[in-house]
Amino acid sequence: MSETPAGGPAHWDAAYAQGAETRSWFQAEAAPSLRLIEAAGADPAAPLLDAGGGASKLVDALLAQGFADITVADLSPAAMAISRKRLGAAAAKVTWIEADLARWTPPRRYALWHDRAAFHFLTDDAAQEGYLAALRAGTLPGAAVIIAAFAPDGPERCSGLPVRRWSPQDLAARIGPPFALEHAEAEIHRTPAGGEQRFAWTLLRRQG
Ligand SMILES: C[S@@+](CC[C@H](N)C(=O)[O-])C[C@H]1O[C@@H](n2cnc3c(N)ncnc32)[C@H](O)[C@@H]1O
Repeated sequence: MSETPAGGPAHWDAAYAQGAETRSWFQAEAAPSLRLIEAAGADPAAPLLDAGGGASKLVDALLAQGFADITVADLSPAAMAISRKRLGAAAAKVTWIEADLARWTPPRRYALWHDRAAFHFLTDDAAQEGYLAALRAGTLPGAAVIIAAFAPDGPERCSGLPVRRWSPQDLAARIGPPFALEHAEAEIHRTPAGGEQRFAWTLLRRQG
């Protein structure tokens, strides 16, 4: 049996052990996320979740902007350990949760749910359903939901794993009520190795 089953925590811990800043998804600044979080009108005092946040520097920027109730949830303890170490004392202001988003019962409801490049690893219906159950259980009425996934003309794999590519329209249809598509945009992410990855960003609003 493999020591790093496809897509499990050990797979991701091993990926991050190779160097967070050389992974294809690394961003020195989480610029599209920050722009959409602002566009969503997020209240810095309200609870915000970075679902599959890994070692992203989004949390650093949000803390600097005064966001006071941030949770990062990820399958990989190693990824979150990288962020905690980077943040130092400020890491204590953040709630860190080790979780498989496809089987997660959120402990509370968030006003903003952000996911850059986690949902697209859920390629089968049951895993997507599990994630969507968590999304429904874990968001407040009026919540903003920001999901970035590889676009239909984006890569077919990431970190050695297959992904499901989404257009914003298909993603909004998959997520369904009570979430409605509010805004969509395309992004070309430049990887540390100089490659290009086409992302689709989708902002949805929970209608009650
Ligand atoms: C491509 S990385 C993106 C990380 C981060 N969002 C960023 O933008 O840097 C995907 C992340 O999703 C996490 N992940 C993958 N499948 C997951 C699952 N089922 N539940 C929770 N996290 C998952 C991985 O551990 C990894 O940190």
